[in-house]
Amino acid sequence: MHLTSTLPGHFIRLNLSFKGIGRYVNISAMMHIPVLMNEVIECFNPLSLSFFFDGTLGAGGHAAALLEAHPEIACYIGVDQDEYALSVAKERLKTWSRRVLLKHANFSMLDNLLKEQSIIGVSGILVDLGVSSMQLDQRDRGFSFMQEGPLDMRMDTTGSQTAADIVNEWTEKELGLIFRKYGEEKQWRAAARAIVNAREQSPFKTTLDLKKVLLPVLSRHPKKGINPLTLVFQALRIAVNRELEVLELFLPKAIDLLEPGGRLAVISFHSLEDRIVKEAMRFAASDKWDTSGIGGVFLDKKPLVKLITKKPIEAALSEIESNPRSRSAKLRICEKL
Ligand SMILES: C[S@@+](CC[C@H](N)C(=O)[O-])C[C@H]1O[C@@H](n2cnc3c(N)ncnc32)[C@H](O)[C@@H]1O
Repeated sequence: MHLTSTLPGHFIRLNLSFKGIGRYVNISAMMHIPVLMNEVIECFNPLSLSFFFDGTLGAGGHAAALLEAHPEIACYIGVDQDEYALSVAKERLKTWSRRVLLKHANFSMLDNLLKEQSIIGVSGILVDLGVSSMQLDQRDRGFSFMQEGPLDMRMDTTGSQTAADIVNEWTEKELGLIFRKYGEEKQWRAAARAIVNAREQSPFKTTLDLKKVLLPVLSRHPKKGINPLTLVFQALRIAVNRELEVLELFLPKAIDLLEPGGRLAVISFHSLEDRIVKEAMRFAASDKWDTSGIGGVFLDKKPLVKLITKKPIEAALSEIESNPRSRSAKLRICEKL
C-alpha cells in the first residue's frame, strides 16, 4: 500500500491505484484487528490444507496468518461482499498472490463460486461475521452513529436496499419487528413510532437525522454499558445486509462442501448468529432428524460432522483488553466426518 501524504487529524491518503481507488481513509480504518487469531490458527493447525474458503476476507488479517502458517495451501479463496475490503486485502496478500483467488461475492454463494473454479471440496472454511473496523470508520458508509454520513449501511455497495430505504419505507410494524428481533431493543415500539412520525415531516437522509429522532426516545431507559443507539443501528445493519438469512443459507452448503477431515470455523458477534451456528452444527452432528428432543420424531440420519467445540471459544481477557471488539466474539468449529 502506497502512502502519499499525511494530513492533519490522522488522515492519510491511500493510493490504491491498482483499482483506481484513491480516497481518504482514517488511519484506524487500516487497523482492523482480527479477533481470536491464535484460536483460528490452532483450529486449522492439525490439518494439511489444500483449498481454503474464507468467506469474510475483510482486511485479510486471518488470511495472511493462515497463508503464512500453511505453505501447502494450493488456493486460498478469499471472498468479501465489500469491494473496498477486497482492494485492501489484495494489497496485503500480494506476497501470496499466486495462491490467492479474490472474489467479490456473498459467502452464501460458495457452492456456485467453487463450481465456477471446478473445485469440488475444500479442506477449510472460515467466516468471521459482522462489520469490520474499516467499514465502521468510513463515514460515507453510514454504519456508525458516531459520525455523520449517508444512512446507507450496505456492506455490498452494489446492493439495492439501504438503511434509508428501510427507515423511510417500512411500516411501523416492520420496523418494530427488526428492532425487537435483531436489536433486542426494549424500546422497539417507541423507536419505530418516532421514526414513522418524523418521516412525515421529512425523509431520513443521514445517520445524524436518525440519531436526532431516536436519542430522546432511547435515552429514557438506556441499556447499561452501551450507547442507547447501538441496538437500533445494529438491527438496521442486520436487516440491510440480510445477515441472518445468508448465514442460514451458507451453513449447510459449507458443511456439504467440506472434504472429510476438513473444518468449518465460524466467529459470530451476536446471540442470534451464534444460535444459528450452534443449531446448524448440532443438527449436522446429530444422528437424528429431530434434535430438539420434544418433537417425538427420532428418525435416524447419518451424522455429517463432529463438534470440535461443544461450547463456543471466547476471547481471553488479555485480548479483550487490547481489542474490545473481541468481547462478544464466539468461535464454533466442526469437522467433517
Ligand atoms: C469482521 S470482518 C472480517 C475480518 C477479517 N477476518 C480480517 O482478518 O481482516 C467481516 C467482513 O466480512 C464481510 N462480510 C460480512 N458478511 C458477508 C457475506 N455474507 N458475504 C461476504 N462478505 C461478508 C464484510 O464486508 C467485512 O469485510
